[in-house]
Amino acid sequence: MYQAPRGTQDVLPEDQPYLATIEAAIRRMAGLYGYRRMDTPIFEATSLFVRGVGEGTDIVDKEMYTFEDKGGDSLTLRPEYTAGIMRAYLEHGMHTRPQPVKVYTIGPIFRYERPQAGRFRQHTQVDVEAIGESDPALDVEIMSFAAQLYSELGFTGLSFQVNSIGCPVCRPGYVHSLVQYYQQHREAVCPDCRRRLARNPLRLLDCKEERCQPVIEAAPRVEHDLCPECSRHFALVLNYLDRLGRPYVLNHRLVRGLDYYTRTVFEVWAQGIGAQNALGGGGRYDGLAQAIGGPHTPAVGFASGIERAVLLMREQELAVAATPEPPLLVATQGDEAKAAGVSLVNAWRGRGVGAGLSFGERSLRAQLRQANRAGSRYVVIIGPEEMAAGVAAVRDMASGEQETLPLAVVVEALSARVQPTQERDG
Ligand code: HAM
Repeated sequence: MYQAPRGTQDVLPEDQPYLATIEAAIRRMAGLYGYRRMDTPIFEATSLFVRGVGEGTDIVDKEMYTFEDKGGDSLTLRPEYTAGIMRAYLEHGMHTRPQPVKVYTIGPIFRYERPQAGRFRQHTQVDVEAIGESDPALDVEIMSFAAQLYSELGFTGLSFQVNSIGCPVCRPGYVHSLVQYYQQHREAVCPDCRRRLARNPLRLLDCKEERCQPVIEAAPRVEHDLCPECSRHFALVLNYLDRLGRPYVLNHRLVRGLDYYTRTVFEVWAQGIGAQNALGGGGRYDGLAQAIGGPHTPAVGFASGIERAVLLMREQELAVAATPEPPLLVATQGDEAKAAGVSLVNAWRGRGVGAGLSFGERSLRAQLRQANRAGSRYVVIIGPEEMAAGVAAVRDMASGEQETLPLAVVVEALSARVQPTQERDG
């Protein structure tokens, strides 16, 4: 027997109400904040991610699903959205539109990671981006979008982690002092950190190894090295957050796993979504456009994993609306009655009334049991006797009462009963 590939999962019909609830909340937020949907391809040129996300990151070095297509081009299943969305912004000359261009999207993301609870090789992201504006108020708008989305879903106990990692003017100075500091503590840190020291020093602050924690705690902090512009930007971000009364934790160790970030970075942490704790994350990425060959274009955004949100909804026992079943079920006995049933459900569906037909040749009792399980409001029963008399027996499943209606009027009569009032009146 085949199984879904490691790190992927099937989303069964009974799981869909969670997705529907989350997607409805996202659409509501997009409407409130003025973000429009946009979609990009599932694969892009490999070099887009190598240049955008950055060599030396885990994503580019270890996690990309890269393949050569039959024409010899190297393509990669998107390991994140932001680089592709910036590519599309540049390709379509979206800088000529009113700025910032505010978009969101939802879809599958692929990373070859070690699968565990809440960590998959295919996951789904909602991604929200605002491109073409450097105003710190926009950073706070993105954070507010995330915060309100989570709060409308009903999540509690979340923690907003915030940091600034500077810009190409001030970060090199900071990275230099960090590297100098780590060289003095080389022997104390894990082998991974010795590698990071050469390849991606900022990620040293992100190490989870026990032995590295004291070294990280005493490491130089980026806030002391921020240039005046980055300091001012960060002060305004925090000032706006304070004004909104939005709680946050200043986390000088928060550096994120993608190279394109500048200035503001943030993550939203939760308990109960597996070994890792990031429900969502993002930040400002003013250098990405140039890294992929475009003009300087400031931008900020965030992304959130839908599967982790579903895990948290289950963990916090949050309510989701069940998918409604059709209110009518037609149960038949015999070939002629089945033919009449085929026409009846067709007539109801054509009028916009949900109806199901009981298939196969099961006993009437079995068909009524099916109706009961499906939560049908009315079962329309047609057997040989009903056919002979040109009628249908209609059972109200809530009261158990049964009445007989002529086949000629049953479509009209039951449509009127199950359709919402305004549709009937209108
Ligand atoms: P990221 O932090 O790599 O950021 O991913 C965003 C979110 O996707 C995570 O917080 C997590 O919820 C979810 N996620 C990531 N990897 C996995 C996985 N293997 N399994 C399940 N869920 C996962 C980005 O991707 C940036 N592009 C966000 C961004 C947008 N920054 C600016 N704009």
